[in-house]
Amino acid sequence: MECKYKRVLLKLSGEALSNEGGFGLNFVKIKKVCEQIKILTEMGIETAIVVGGGNFWRGRSGESMDRTRADHMGMLATTINALAILDTLEDVGVQARVQTGIEMKQIAEPYIRNKAIRHLEKGRVVVFGCGTGNPFFSTDTAAALRAAEIDADVILLAKNVDGVYTSDPHVDKDAVKFDSIKYIDVLNKGLKVMDSTAISLCMDNNIPIEVFGLDIPENIIRVVKGEKIGTYVGK
Ligand code: GTP
Repeated sequence: MECKYKRVLLKLSGEALSNEGGFGLNFVKIKKVCEQIKILTEMGIETAIVVGGGNFWRGRSGESMDRTRADHMGMLATTINALAILDTLEDVGVQARVQTGIEMKQIAEPYIRNKAIRHLEKGRVVVFGCGTGNPFFSTDTAAALRAAEIDADVILLAKNVDGVYTSDPHVDKDAVKFDSIKYIDVLNKGLKVMDSTAISLCMDNNIPIEVFGLDIPENIIRVVKGEKIGTYVGK
């Protein structure tokens, strides 16, 4: 089957894995996503995942904390999520590996770019934990960085809204969805797609971003097949 993309970087937010209220892990939801990832691998799509950690920890909820320490806690949160995804992928019969941007060798492989690529070439899903491994960088930026490093064709940005809007559609009923938009317009209009560091990295390295809603997990497959369902961000 002809697909639009061959190697993809799927960015999942912590909330995408969470219970009502955005906290903790909902394994029913995680399984639905992992079943879609299984279909991707069966289609021969090489799949890497960057996961956020907002379902356990948000740096900004610790405003009085030292930022670096708060971000380290966020990295640990992403690793909990990465291990939950790993376990669920294995459960549905997908071979997968977790690599972390900060070494925690007893728990997961350290991030080694070439090894990640070998895993992908062998049909394994690679889940990246710890974000970039640096404070002050979001997991969106980690998605852009890892996508650039592994030479991904696209970032699949699965969100709780079904695309990029002129304003927040949960708040503004007049918000209009873009079918496609340029990186520079996202930056200039200050649209909440990814933070500016992440968008800039995608722009400089020409990595397209497909933004779509994960309320329908099948959307992952539809986007990879080339269906236009959300918003395409490119040059
Ligand atoms: P190939 O060499 O391509 O066969 O890859 P592989 O991942 O199957 O082989 P490897 O021997 O590297 O890994 C075997 C298992 O050990 C896999 O589940 C890896 O995720 C795991 N593993 C490898 N390196 C580390 C590490 O540094 N820490 C932890 N915790 N697990 C590791």
